[in-house]
Amino acid sequence: MAAKSLSLKQAAQHIEKLRKEIKYHEKKYYVDNDPQISDETFDLIVKELDKLEKQFPELITPESPTQRVGEQPLEGFPSVEHRTPMLSLDNCYSEEELKEFEERIEKIIPAEKIEYVAELKIDGLGISVIYRDGKFSQAVTRGDGFRGDDVTLNVKTIRSLPLLIDNTREIEVRGEAYLPFQSFQKINHERSGKGEPLFANPRNAAAGSLRLLDPEKVASRNLDAFLYSIFIEGKEESSQWKNLQILKELGFKINPQSRHCSTLKEVISFWNEWQEKREDLDYDADGIVVKINSTELQKNLGSTAKFPRWSISYKFPARQATTKITNIKIQVGRTGALTPVAILKSVKLSGTTINRSTLHNEDEIKRKDIRIGDTVLIERSGDVIPKVVSVMKERRTGKEKKFTFPPICPVCQSSTFKPEGEVISRCVNPSCRAKLRGSLLHFVSRRAMNIEGLGDSLVGQLLEKKLVKSIPDIYSLDYEKLVGLERMGPKSSQNLLEEIEKSKQRDVARLIYALGIRYTGERTAQALASHFKNLESLASASLEELIEIEDVGPKVAESIVFFFSQPENTGLMNILKKSGLNFSYKEEKREGKRPLGGQLFVLTGKLSSLSREQATEMIEDLGGTVTSSVSHKTTYVVTGDSPGSKLDKAKRLGVPTLEEKEFLKLVKKD
Ligand code: IVH
Repeated sequence: MAAKSLSLKQAAQHIEKLRKEIKYHEKKYYVDNDPQISDETFDLIVKELDKLEKQFPELITPESPTQRVGEQPLEGFPSVEHRTPMLSLDNCYSEEELKEFEERIEKIIPAEKIEYVAELKIDGLGISVIYRDGKFSQAVTRGDGFRGDDVTLNVKTIRSLPLLIDNTREIEVRGEAYLPFQSFQKINHERSGKGEPLFANPRNAAAGSLRLLDPEKVASRNLDAFLYSIFIEGKEESSQWKNLQILKELGFKINPQSRHCSTLKEVISFWNEWQEKREDLDYDADGIVVKINSTELQKNLGSTAKFPRWSISYKFPARQATTKITNIKIQVGRTGALTPVAILKSVKLSGTTINRSTLHNEDEIKRKDIRIGDTVLIERSGDVIPKVVSVMKERRTGKEKKFTFPPICPVCQSSTFKPEGEVISRCVNPSCRAKLRGSLLHFVSRRAMNIEGLGDSLVGQLLEKKLVKSIPDIYSLDYEKLVGLERMGPKSSQNLLEEIEKSKQRDVARLIYALGIRYTGERTAQALASHFKNLESLASASLEELIEIEDVGPKVAESIVFFFSQPENTGLMNILKKSGLNFSYKEEKREGKRPLGGQLFVLTGKLSSLSREQATEMIEDLGGTVTSSVSHKTTYVVTGDSPGSKLDKAKRLGVPTLEEKEFLKLVKKD
């Protein structure tokens, strides 16, 4: 349509049509997880609307989808009183306590049969959103329960919240604003790149995001929200379950896991199921919220000053724990990076015993003021290794010792170097033992040369006995040298020698990766191998030639040129060649070995014959990729015992699922 020739009326009509279309697709994408069109097509529609609105600015309304993200910085967040207090919830931690909750209720209303709604307790921030005349009009944080902050323009950036709803009564909805794990990790990744302090958990990151003064920045954080309460002026539904359905009908995102339970027993099963499957969720849930279903009973029960009597939260066991730092040690890695590690008094955290935690770098220790002897809060979120969230300074006795970061490498005593603007110091000695150990472990690792049986402790022994002084020495190991070592019998020595022999035939892509050239990960190694076809051509490639390759940026290219300009590295290559290692790219074989190339897998539930890591390994070995969340791009969702919400999502999106047996069939055929 030639926009210029449109009359105001025609433009208004067309704008209306585009907005409806956008609203429909936003809901499909952000609420239902069921996109109907590609992102590109969606962007085109938004662009068309944007263009038209620029030509007819008098037609812009605050509820237009183009107005989700305000351009003006905010000056602050005025305090607003809630119409009814936003109460918090009483907590309980055991089945007994939950039964006591029911008993308390039965005492107040003896004759009633009590039904419940069980919902996940999302670990985010409570928000209240008001719609007037069908329009998104105000959003306020929970604050102290009586007054909160007006964060309207920030909450407006949450794409799953409708800006227009099909009901003109005054409506208040309440729910939880949260950050999905993926967004949380992305934010922290960016912050670490900029040397900014990291958020301890998704909840803090969500809180920090809601309080930003720049709505554009808030929009980039990808906050989301699940709604769980609705108050419609002059109209009251008879139950919480109905309220959830009304929220859904109006286009709000409700948590799909919520369950209507006829008995407390069913509530307990709901808790049991989710306490197992919570790791499968894309967001943090710290327990369940149990609500009496009937609105009338809720009213009869009323609330105390702090909590409603008709609801309670039944928490999951903590992923956080407190423990003591007994020592701080420095680990030196393959690249010479000095990483401080806290040695902890053993503590159980969501099922596993934890006794160490990374402290990342010197700055992190200073910023958090971490001292030996400190009591600290540690946390495991998602599948990340445990980390120290904060120091409980109030528990200090005065005996804690400040940690001085060593100015020299603790392994070889050489000096260290920290480039300006970086946070990591590295040992400068190229033949530092720790570097060699790290390089060897990397070289033999599964994704590199994959020499099975050559693990941490054996590498340690080989170094100690000086049987290996550099990478190629692996290939001059023999039976006599191995058999006398600790835990090495005749059989294991023989097996290891066979494994070493087999590794000589690996594709050159693996060898390139195994060399441990800085910034050269597996993908880059693969790209280099397929471009140069053999190691010699790669070694003599120029900077210009390297930059031409897709996946290779200037930083990577420089690092590769530098690596092959070092005499010790060319020497190393010569010996490897003499030892009989394959230096060439076996394209045809590689293709055959990557039957799952380009396929995306998601795992959910417990597999009976293998661990999640093993399943991941198998998929990756065949060229597939494992991701944590289901989308329309997912090829298969592999389901084990008690699968989580990922299975529901797969069904909704029509993503094919594989049971364990089918999965094994798929990965075992070579
Ligand atoms: S109901 C009076 N339902 O947990 C009813 N709250 O510790 C109160 N929360 O302030 C809220 N998920 O911010 C409810 N499904 C859920 C929830 C939930 C998370 C938060 C909410 C509340 C806090 C109480």
